[in-house]
Amino acid sequence: MSIDLSVNLAGIRLKNPVIIAAGNHTHDGATIAQVARYGPAAAITKTIVAQPVPDILPCFAQVNGGFLNTVLSTIFPAEQWWKQELPAARQGNDMVIIANLAGRWPEEAADLAAQAEAAGADMIEVPTVCPHMKEILEAMFPGLELPQPGFTDPAPWAEMFAAVTRTVKIPVIAKFSGGFLHNVRDWARAAADAGAAAIDCCDSLGPGLSINIEDGEPWLGGPRGVGGLTGPAIKPIVLRMVMEVAETVDIPIIGTGGITTWKDAIEYFMAGATAVGMATAGHLRGMDAYKKVLDGIGAYLADRNYTSLEDIRGLTLKRLAARRANGRMAITKVVAPTITDLCNGCTLCARVCVFDAIEMVNKRAVIDEVKCYGCGLCVNVCGRPGAMLQPYFDQA
Ligand SMILES: Cc1cc2nc3c(=O)[nH]c(=O)nc-3n(C[C@H](O)[C@H](O)[C@H](O)COP(=O)(O)O)c2cc1C
Repeated sequence: MSIDLSVNLAGIRLKNPVIIAAGNHTHDGATIAQVARYGPAAAITKTIVAQPVPDILPCFAQVNGGFLNTVLSTIFPAEQWWKQELPAARQGNDMVIIANLAGRWPEEAADLAAQAEAAGADMIEVPTVCPHMKEILEAMFPGLELPQPGFTDPAPWAEMFAAVTRTVKIPVIAKFSGGFLHNVRDWARAAADAGAAAIDCCDSLGPGLSINIEDGEPWLGGPRGVGGLTGPAIKPIVLRMVMEVAETVDIPIIGTGGITTWKDAIEYFMAGATAVGMATAGHLRGMDAYKKVLDGIGAYLADRNYTSLEDIRGLTLKRLAARRANGRMAITKVVAPTITDLCNGCTLCARVCVFDAIEMVNKRAVIDEVKCYGCGLCVNVCGRPGAMLQPYFDQA
């Protein structure tokens, strides 16, 4: 059976759902053309601005479960993007090219967007504010003291965004900040009202700090040594935000945050995403990470006899609606899971069980139904195909 991996993102057909998020693999046209060899359907440029600022160096630090950076926008003038980088990005590939751009005020953003459209960008993406913007601007302009962005009121950003959507005919994507931790629904509504064709959720969280214990110096080079946090550490939070956006507005979502393997991408589709964005995995593991995720998505669908991503998109939203409809909001009755048939004798479940309810008998895990508290951790860490928590929900 052939699998159709293509998706419709705001009227633009993507040959598959993998997008290279704005980052250093979209730093310039030649790098974008290079990344195209790994199969993604689209690439989003680094943020194009009227007055680029240099990066604060050192700008990258790997942390346990994630990545910190102090890069803000492109270091190249906008003019260079229109004349050189966008044409170079298209060389030898059929990727959809999305120009990510930001203005300091609505007219500037609209002006840049008009230039991007004239230069042939297929779509535009407008970000909000990075959590490390304060760090970078204070580094660039000594004496400047900015407040840490609060992300409370979408109105000023929405005004800028609406100026862009009014100016261009190509679809405009709203790129959300990871700072919209508790009000992402408000931002989703504001973006939809301002004409967003899609929402890309999210940019980095933070800022965060990482210290070199040899000398006590922060690894990053700015005045406080802090940077935006991306990668696996942010995934559970961003996944929840994507789910909330999907529940709030009916526009396509790009789920971006911590996608390292194809399994992460599948979770985003189930939470309601139409496509997925990736940056950190490629930065820390090499560009091949993008292809592995793409291949894994196809293999997952084929293995389970799905024909397209539509078969799984939003599945979790439906599951949660069913939970609510069936009064399964809070399960208190213990139902011990049965994992014995799947057991390969690795002992991990027995080692992590804090209720001492699992014993290895003849190299197989056996769950003591009296001691079992029903916490679910054994099944969760098991990871064997077929290990599921379903019995809890069926019998609650
Ligand atoms: C090195 C680096 C540079 C980035 N530059 C930009 C940028 O210029 N504009 C933007 O909107 N997002 C930028 N991002 C954010 C990513 O597009 C993405 O939203 C974020 O990294 C979360 O995805 P990930 O966990 O797959 O990295 C950057 C991220 C990284 C790691």
